[in-house]
Amino acid sequence: MKKANEAFPADLLKLAKKMRARAYAPYSKFAVGAAVRGKSGKLYGGCNVENAAYPVGICAEAGAISAMVAGGDSEIAEILVLAGGDELVSPCGACRQRIREFAKPKTPVHLAREAGSGETVTLKKLLPMSFGPGHLK
Ligand code: THU
Repeated sequence: MKKANEAFPADLLKLAKKMRARAYAPYSKFAVGAAVRGKSGKLYGGCNVENAAYPVGICAEAGAISAMVAGGDSEIAEILVLAGGDELVSPCGACRQRIREFAKPKTPVHLAREAGSGETVTLKKLLPMSFGPGHLK
C-alpha cells in the first residue's frame, strides 16, 4: 500500500487526467476524473457528467465503473480518483457503495492530485461494515 505523497500508477493517473479534462461540470465547476483497472488488466475511465436537473448528475467513478462492466470486467483491481487543487477528493457515499459491488475490502482506492501525489486507502477504510452482494445469497 502506498503512503501519502508517493506516486501512483502512471497509467491510471494519465487516464484519470484525460477523463477529468472531459468532465461536464458547468454547474459545480468541479471536474473529476476516475480510472479503474479491471481484474483483466484493462483500464476504464469516467468523468462527472452534470445535468441542469442537478440530482441527475453522475459522478466520475460511476461512469468508470459502468465502462468497466460494459467492457467485460467484473472486478476492480484498483481505482484512482482525481480532482483539481490540493484537497484530495474521496468518493461520495453512493460511489463507495458502487465500488463495493465490484471490489474486495483490501482493494486500493487512490485519491490523487494532478501532480501525482495523494493517498491510497482501502475500500474497507472508506466503507466499513458494508452491505454487499454476499448478503443476498
Ligand atoms: N464528484 C465526482 O464525480 N466524484 C467524487 O468523488 C466527488 C464528487 C462530482 C459530482 C459533481 O459533479 C461534482 O463533483 C461536485 O460535487
